[in-house]
Amino acid sequence: MTNDEIRREAALLFPGGVNSPVRSFRSVGGKPVPIVRGAGAHVFDADGQRYVDYIAAFGPLILGHAHPAVVDAIAAAAAEGTAFGALTPGEVELGRRVMQATGLERVRFVNSGTEATMTAIRLARAATGRAVIVKFDGCYHGHSDGLLVKAGSGVATFGLSDSAGVPAEIAGLTAVLPYNDPGALREWFASHGAETAAVIVEPVAGNMGLVEPSPAFLAALQEAPREHGALLIADEVITGFRLRFGLSNLLPGADLVCLGKIIGGGLPVGAFGGRAELMDQLSPAGPVYQAGTLAGNPLVMAAGVATLDLLSSGAAYTRAEELARHLENGLVAACRRAGVPGAAVRSGSMLTLFFREGAPRDYAEARESDTARFGRFHRAMLERGILLPPSQFETWFVSAAHTEADIDQTVKAAHDALAGEAHL
Ligand SMILES: Cc1ncc(COP(=O)(O)O)c(C=O)c1O
Repeated sequence: MTNDEIRREAALLFPGGVNSPVRSFRSVGGKPVPIVRGAGAHVFDADGQRYVDYIAAFGPLILGHAHPAVVDAIAAAAAEGTAFGALTPGEVELGRRVMQATGLERVRFVNSGTEATMTAIRLARAATGRAVIVKFDGCYHGHSDGLLVKAGSGVATFGLSDSAGVPAEIAGLTAVLPYNDPGALREWFASHGAETAAVIVEPVAGNMGLVEPSPAFLAALQEAPREHGALLIADEVITGFRLRFGLSNLLPGADLVCLGKIIGGGLPVGAFGGRAELMDQLSPAGPVYQAGTLAGNPLVMAAGVATLDLLSSGAAYTRAEELARHLENGLVAACRRAGVPGAAVRSGSMLTLFFREGAPRDYAEARESDTARFGRFHRAMLERGILLPPSQFETWFVSAAHTEADIDQTVKAAHDALAGEAHL
């Protein structure tokens, strides 16, 4: 099938032609690219076109596509049986690695980041006997009802549903505060501390484009909830094992940590963990229910073990970060030469090019970016063989499989794509 044939049939089969919204390319105004194969830092569409890939499955593929050791591990596991609904040694293998690298005393594997955050919140509510949770505008924690909530007017407000089908009563249990605003967080706790069960946050925000936390914000996150008997949930679904081997280390005071993406080596995964005393409130050890037919699946565990084994020396982080730094510098130079306002924000091997002056500190500032320009840029890069995440508000992922030649090709494409943009 050709690209067009796949798109045509998908449009009849799936709502919006896709199985996850951002894949539709609607926010950049292009046609989705059907990918048939990946190898290292490259993917290939159904028409045979090759792209340098910065989507990287939205984060898991820090080693690139189809790393031989990961593929072999999955194949070996599959040959022994794909699912058992029973305890398996693979879970113990991956669990041990995750716990040694993170310091979490107990962990539970689930199938997605959404399940991890959803259950961490249930656990926090049970542990505190309180209902309200706090999230930050522009952070994404998956699609459970209570987290699909946007800010109302005002600095610190109870949230409004951000999706049809989320009852106002549920959205009203989530407060939405601005990211990087320690004052708003402290004020929230001064007025609503006694009813707040937990604060959930991305230590580095990756879902409004990349937005880095300020030291004062990180300090307030670790102080304010604790002072008022609430829990801190660090959503490290993106940052865990991405910025370094283990947790980001930006929120060492977190009570619960959510993981996903990299620890599954590109297969469906999520996990959450924390102190034994807290985690042991989960079923069957305790009264908080959670379960999963395919949780701890042997193929996923094998892919995760192979991935963490390859990452544990730290060399892949050094390599991916060095390449990401080259890319950052090249993008800054391309914007400057074209006379286009641009801010390349990078944390380790994650990066976003915002079309605005200066790095945004929160979602309001991120939204000031020129999204129409990003759409043009995305299409121009695609024509030049570069596959960027299809939204201004997604993070680009550099892998250890990218090469200097990939980065050079990307920077050259950015120079070409941006030439003439200043006048638009
Ligand atoms: C920070 C964060 N948390 C949670 C999720 C949800 O994970 P999943 O898509 O596996 O449900 C995502 C997904 O991108 C994420 O970026």
